[in-house]
Amino acid sequence: MLSRIDVITLFPEWVHGLRELGLTGRAIADGRVELHCWNPRDHAAGAHKSVDDRPYGGGPGMVMRPEPLAQAIEAAKLAGVPARVGCLTPQGRRLDQAAVRALAGRERLILVCGRYEGIDERVVEALVDEEWSIGDCVLSGGEPAAAVMIDAVLRLVPGVLGHELSAEQDSFSGGLLDCPHYTRPESWRGLDVPPVLLSGDHARIERWRRAQAIERTRQRRPDLHDEAGLSEPERDKR
Ligand code: 6GU
Repeated sequence: MLSRIDVITLFPEWVHGLRELGLTGRAIADGRVELHCWNPRDHAAGAHKSVDDRPYGGGPGMVMRPEPLAQAIEAAKLAGVPARVGCLTPQGRRLDQAAVRALAGRERLILVCGRYEGIDERVVEALVDEEWSIGDCVLSGGEPAAAVMIDAVLRLVPGVLGHELSAEQDSFSGGLLDCPHYTRPESWRGLDVPPVLLSGDHARIERWRRAQAIERTRQRRPDLHDEAGLSEPERDKR
């Protein structure tokens, strides 16, 4: 079970935000998971402590220099039990809930955040074991992606969510999107809560919720719906 996360970043402020807010902040304050940052700038030589340089071959932007980044990664590795080194990049494997579950089951995560136009590829070759993306869009750096990954992983650590059950009931846990939710009042701006939810018939409510989840998934994410491996009786119910 996860007990330590190390983030290699030029912008540790991004990660410090996780300590201060909500679910992730509580998990860290309660000591369930340690969160550490390593800044390549602390390993940069010279008066300017430069961490980036112009790309060989020309082109726009800057590339993170290998040596300060490598030293920061190596310092992080030495600070705990052996762990795979992950790099956040749009070129990585797309994160999904199955991957999040697997990551939450590891003892330790080491996450490298790329900045600028990228990091020197030789660092990836020498020190990075896996590359992760959070989706098909481009961010200005890996930090918000790392924050997304850490949030997703921490909520699966036992004791972090108020209700142990809610992690399992959320979207994707059964390969489906979540059903809709309602609270008081029963009628709001002419819109009523579906009567089945007021029936007190828990078996019927459970069936309704599952049918809603299946229908939403079919409409919004046919790719997930086809993968969900629904039983034949449930397909017939539509
Ligand atoms: Cl991990 N990094 C960046 N820079 N952009 C992304 C991403 C990661 N995942 C999706 N877009």
